[in-house]
Amino acid sequence: MLICTTPAEMQAACRHVRGSAHSLGLVPTMGALHAGHLSLVSAALTQNDAVAASIFVNPTQFGPNEDYAAYPRTFDEDCRKLTEAGVALLFAPTAADMYPSGNTTFVDPGPIATRLDGASRPGHFRGVATIVTRLFHIVQPDRAYFGQKDAAQAAVLRHIVRDLNLPVELVVCPIVREPDGLALSSRNRYLSAGERSRALALSRALAAAGDLAGHGETRAEALRAAMLSVFSVDAGPDAAPVRLDYAAVVDPDTLLPVADTSRGALLAVAAFIGATRLIDNLLIPAHEG
Ligand code: PAF
Repeated sequence: MLICTTPAEMQAACRHVRGSAHSLGLVPTMGALHAGHLSLVSAALTQNDAVAASIFVNPTQFGPNEDYAAYPRTFDEDCRKLTEAGVALLFAPTAADMYPSGNTTFVDPGPIATRLDGASRPGHFRGVATIVTRLFHIVQPDRAYFGQKDAAQAAVLRHIVRDLNLPVELVVCPIVREPDGLALSSRNRYLSAGERSRALALSRALAAAGDLAGHGETRAEALRAAMLSVFSVDAGPDAAPVRLDYAAVVDPDTLLPVADTSRGALLAVAAFIGATRLIDNLLIPAHEG
């Protein structure tokens, strides 16, 4: 695996790879790789002749009081996993490589960037849209791979690809879960054992609402109430506190709330488990009949 650290080096290496391969896939990541990331790599390998990945903890998508400094950085282990998986090229710039002084151009996706995580984390999706657009310009992939766990991020990226006519196909891969339902996330490694078990509230809330939807319930309020009831269960005085950020029933493309899920919907939750903010979601298919 060839590792490039500057945008110019990566641009040249990708030009070279594109010259000999018919198609190039890109898996953008912030590192601290887990099986969810590796599922993106393996989807990319089946659909492209060559695969590039990036590891960059992007400062512009973190708020001032968020975990930018503490975000897990496991570069050597990540490189080993990507090499074993068959990634040809890795882009691993520093913050100074990507944001040298005088770099002031941002991609602002508009109102969609203020919904769900964008409401709780102002500026987050502007930072994501900016870095992903730049990665697309540097790598010029045919396809780029993202996880469904970040459903709002996927909606924002679909929006900018459409608005800016970016010549890339977005591929959104299914959420990978632990056997007990916890969605894989690099932030799970922040959790203590007690917090880890409290974190199951997210997937349980979604499962409760999904069950109801499976039995024909299409009223968003009823599905939302099912999610809230899981979060309101008191796990006792020793349990780490769970603070719900949002439990929403929205259109998966616009992220706007829907009142009825007959045409399909996204159930999305975010919660703080102690100091760790986790997200999870479930797509409800359109109701038949
Ligand atoms: O999903 C992530 O890991 C990040 O938001 C991304 C897409 C790599 C941009 O920094």
